Order: sequence, then structure tokens, then C-alpha cells
Amino acid sequence: MKTPIPDYLDELLDSLRADTSGTTAQYIPELAQANPDLFALSVTTATGSTYSAGDHLEEFTIQSISKPFAYAAAIMDRGLNRVLRSVGVEASGEAFNELSLEEGTHRPENPMINAGAIMTHGLLVAEDASSEARVARVLELFSQLAGRELCIDETVYASEMETADRNLATAHMLRSYGILGADAHEVVSGYTRQCSILVTVEDLSLMSATLANGGVQPRTRERVLSEGIAQQVMSVMAVAGMYDAAGDWLTRVGIPAKSGVAGGLVGVLPDQVGIGAFSPRLDAHGNSQRAGRAFERLSTDMGMHLF
Ligand code: DON
Repeated sequence: MKTPIPDYLDELLDSLRADTSGTTAQYIPELAQANPDLFALSVTTATGSTYSAGDHLEEFTIQSISKPFAYAAAIMDRGLNRVLRSVGVEASGEAFNELSLEEGTHRPENPMINAGAIMTHGLLVAEDASSEARVARVLELFSQLAGRELCIDETVYASEMETADRNLATAHMLRSYGILGADAHEVVSGYTRQCSILVTVEDLSLMSATLANGGVQPRTRERVLSEGIAQQVMSVMAVAGMYDAAGDWLTRVGIPAKSGVAGGLVGVLPDQVGIGAFSPRLDAHGNSQRAGRAFERLSTDMGMHLF
């Protein structure tokens, strides 16, 4: 039987397999050991049809791709105005693990960098929420977005906590400025669990298709996010999802996106599609090299550039 879209996606992956540039994330021991040759791609339309290719059943940790979705949860829980008081929406132009605080207010510049995501995690649920409640909150929301029950890779969590000095320092800095109220260690531990949630490229494409579909999960038909929150999240992804490569990415590829150091990449085209890609070797910005190139080809071949 002829299967034009899956055949196209297979061919697209094959055309990029020879690119072995970059390396797996070296600062998290478990991720450093990942199989670098894995490669997968999944596209879900806003109406809920999914097309996947390559290692699409492979699970990997969501890492920074959790940030836009945790941001959505914080806005649902605390309201946009409260969240904006603690986290900005400006591109930082700096690497993902820089402190990048706004002058004067000391807010992290945006929720996509680690400082902003740690702050965002600390806002989840309520002012005095327990660490367990914050983690349960993101796990519940991410599962609704993916349309299946997700779980945490405790081995990757433990591995990252062994080398989390920089994130701990960031949380302590936020506390010293009076921005973060919660316990620094508990927030970093909860944030690291959030980053250790296991997903496949198909989960990612469904999570972003929910954004594309204005907050309604296209398969379960459940309204998971309000339209306004989906709009806020997609906008911030466009501004800062690819960190200090965000401008280059948006002008060249034109798909609002968010990367993770395990090699995942999620992209969204409002009203059209959610895209998930995975390949563990990263470029100098900490973004997946081949997943980025897969997006680039999709954008060119299918005319996906937003502008
Ligand atoms: O906090 C960290 O450093 C990791 N858990 C996540 C960083 C990340 O995914 C950066 N993205 N490309």
C-alpha cells in the first residue's frame, strides 16, 4: 500500500542520518551515555491525525521541553499577572543556564531559560504547595496533553541531581533577591523531576498539537488549556524557545519551538500541526542537531514557515 506521508518522513530521516555532528549532553551523566544514533519524527495535525517515523516508540526525558507546558500550568494555577510578576517574556540572548535576570526587578528574563523555569516551577499550584504537589501537578497536566499516563525516569533524575550545582546556585540567587519564596533545594529537585518525565516523539507532537488546537487535545477532545494560555505559551516559545539561537531559528525555520538536552525538539504551527523530533546529539546551544535539521526540511518542503 502506498503511504505518502510516512514514506516522506522516513525518507526525510534517512537523508539526515549521515550528520553525526555534535555530542550528547555531557553535564548529566545518564544523558551522556544515550545512544546517539536514535532518530525519530512525529507530526500530529490539529485534527488529531498522527504520522511518525524512525525510533518513534523510544522514550527519552523531556528536559527543557517541559518548560512551556509547566509555564501553562503555573498560569492556570496562579493567573498570568502573578506569573508575570516573577518571570518576564523577553529573549535573554544568553545560554539556557545563564542567570539572565532583568535589571531592577530581578525577574528571570523568560520561562524557557533554567532560571525562569525554576522560578515557574516554584509558582505551581499555590504559594505554600508541597514539593510533591508541584511535581504531581506537572505530571497530571503533561499526561492530559499527551493523552496517556506519563511517568518519571528516577535514574535520570538522580543522575542530574548529582551535578545540579548550577541550578541550585540559580535557585539560591532567586531566593536572595526575594523572587523565589519556596525552598531552593525542593524547587530544584521538583524542577529536575519535571525535566525527567519520559516521552516519545508522538507524545511531544500530541502535546504541541494541543497548543496548535487552541488548548483542546485533538484525540481525547478534552479542553486542557484555555485558548489564551495556549497563545501565551506559543508566543513565548517563539521568543525564547531556542535560547540564544531563537532569532536565527525563527527567521530560518519559522516554527516556534522548544528544545531539550536529551535531544527532543517540539514545534507548533497554530491551527495546523504539532511536531516532535528526537536525536540525542546537540549543537553548541544545547539544541538537537539532527532534530533541528529535520524541522528545517519540513519547513522548506511543506512551506511551514509561519511568515
Ligand atoms: O536544568 C537543566 O539543565 C536540564 N534539566 C534541562 C536543560 C535543557 O534541556 C536545555 N535545553 N536544551
